[in-house]
Amino acid sequence: MSGRAEAAAVPRHVAIIMDGNGRWAKQRLRPRLFGHRAGAESLRAVLRACRDRGVEYLTVYAFSTENWVRPEDEVSGLMSLLRTFLKKDEHELHENQVRLRVTGRIQDLPEAVRAELERVMAATKTYAKGHLILALSYGGRAEIVDAVRALAAEVQAGKLAPAAIDEAAIAAHLYLPDVPDPDLMIRTSGELRLSNFLLWQLSYAEFYFTETLWPDFREADFAKALDEYARRQRRFGAPS
Ligand code: FPP
Repeated sequence: MSGRAEAAAVPRHVAIIMDGNGRWAKQRLRPRLFGHRAGAESLRAVLRACRDRGVEYLTVYAFSTENWVRPEDEVSGLMSLLRTFLKKDEHELHENQVRLRVTGRIQDLPEAVRAELERVMAATKTYAKGHLILALSYGGRAEIVDAVRALAAEVQAGKLAPAAIDEAAIAAHLYLPDVPDPDLMIRTSGELRLSNFLLWQLSYAEFYFTETLWPDFREADFAKALDEYARRQRRFGAPS
């Protein structure tokens, strides 16, 4: 196998829709937050698996723009789970030189959560061995809207000609323009939808769906997804 083909067998960037926490908890007659807590354990396991298998970027859909309408106690429970995660797991980010970043409208998050996120992001910003990206208050359409607004402002200011707006210009105005597009998108819990996740960036990604609920999704399930990815031939629209 050539070096290039070997490199392509492991996705550089995996994006995950961590779905099914609520159903997992319901099956156990427990509150939804119990499922989210178990889901945080799955995230820890998958982050370690990324390190072990050479996946450089992991983006997880932790909270969508649509999730704000969930009951207040679930929203505040998720926010405090996020703070716990940042406190408990920061040392692992340092040990493994993983940079933490956020994609989404971070300004919508409660001040205490935002402050904690900003602190850990600043403390890890020089790391490049791995990248953990939390999609928080994230919506794919909102991201494109924000990019278009920024471009429109440049046009209005006379800094950009409309004819100069191309795919590269739009991509350069997304939230994290330096992050490579995901190679593989995983969604758990049997739902076959994109749910407004990374609409622009997932254009050429391979999709992997599994019935497994997110709190049950651990190293072995992740390995299965990567094996399936390695079997697929990616053509980027070119003929086979
Ligand atoms: C979807 O399951 C999951 C979420 C909306 C939240 C994901 C959050 C975590 C896994 C918590 C850990 C994250 C961090 C960053 C600490 P659902 O509630 O929609 O499940 P359901 O479809 O079964 O109801």
